[in-house]
Amino acid sequence: MNLPGTDGLEGVVVANTRLSHVDGARGQLVIADRNVEALAGEVPFEQVCALLWRASEVDLGPERVRAFALLPSLGDALGLPDGMEALRAGLAHLSHLRAPALTAAVGVFAAAWFRRQQGLPAVPPDPSLPHAADVLRMVRGARAQAPREQALDTYLVAVIDHGLNASTFAARVIASTQSDLVSAVVGALGALKGPLHGGAPGPVLDMLEAVGTPARAVAWLEEQLALGHRIMGMGHRIYRVRDPRAAVLERALDRLEAQGVHSENLTLARAVERAATQALAQRHPERALRANVEFYTAVLLDTVGLDRRLFSPLFATGRVAGWCAHVEEQQATGRLIRPASRYVGVLPEAFA
Ligand code: COA
Repeated sequence: MNLPGTDGLEGVVVANTRLSHVDGARGQLVIADRNVEALAGEVPFEQVCALLWRASEVDLGPERVRAFALLPSLGDALGLPDGMEALRAGLAHLSHLRAPALTAAVGVFAAAWFRRQQGLPAVPPDPSLPHAADVLRMVRGARAQAPREQALDTYLVAVIDHGLNASTFAARVIASTQSDLVSAVVGALGALKGPLHGGAPGPVLDMLEAVGTPARAVAWLEEQLALGHRIMGMGHRIYRVRDPRAAVLERALDRLEAQGVHSENLTLARAVERAATQALAQRHPERALRANVEFYTAVLLDTVGLDRRLFSPLFATGRVAGWCAHVEEQQATGRLIRPASRYVGVLPEAFA
């Protein structure tokens, strides 16, 4: 039973942060004092990490090499069939890592997991490359064209931090007990895995495939809604307008198109988004349910040439940098996060 004030902690402020700010009414996302539009596609991932970690410079190349050397010590962790479960198991083997090492490890482990799923050996990192370019290279086994590398970098920055989303909150709760960074990141990963958070982009691509053509969008969506299903990639806890990251990723898709990398799904995605926005507005006139970041994540990562099983692990590859920054910020407060609950059971006195 949901009681007033307990329903998903909506609108409850539980931390001060200088890392990012989500204005749900205006559709504004500020990361490290800048609008997301000024960062994603404009500033490389490593530089945005440096802004969040207050470091003068961040070089993830040597950290990737060290993370790759850890692979043999992970046992069968990366053999799990689900990428998020593999990451969770792989990271759980680690201890005493700092933000750059952990951030590098997520990208290296995600790529190694995917290679292993395909029966292929892991590809050693090239420390001279930017993180996004090298993660893509380690997944594919060869360097991709520059526009694709750039698009993945744009994506990693677009998702690097986002206020007190569920996984970041989970990381902060764990950090507040003075537990370690790896534990906080493993917990955050578990929260990100859920389809209401970071697990949505794969199903968005499934949806686009199931719809097939723009003409079928309305009928397909009506059928799903009549069955009580949620439309993946639509709706948001905070945004009452379109998620600004959807526009950032759409812009990256337009940029890819202009650079000769065609997206097979972009026209269909735009039609499905229009139809879904209308269908949801009819059902929920009280609540604006618009496209969120996951909608165009699916289209962008697919256009980059990445398999849908990698979508959530790549979300983690970007977001881990934000988790690490929040853990440090939380630890600096020294204050345990320990809310209260309202007991709705029966008190023993009632039986006296
Ligand atoms: N499809 C269909 N209905 C939706 C919906 C969606 N994508 N998102 C919300 N709704 C419905 C809810 O079921 C609810 O209906 P009800 O009042 O009849 O129960 C109503 O709209 C209001 O929901 P809201 O309070 O805005 O949702 P929330 O804040 O609890 O949840 C999400 C936010 C993101 C979890 C939700 O919008 C969702 O499940 N989206 C799909 C998954 C997704 O894309 N996740 C990635 C998020 S970045």
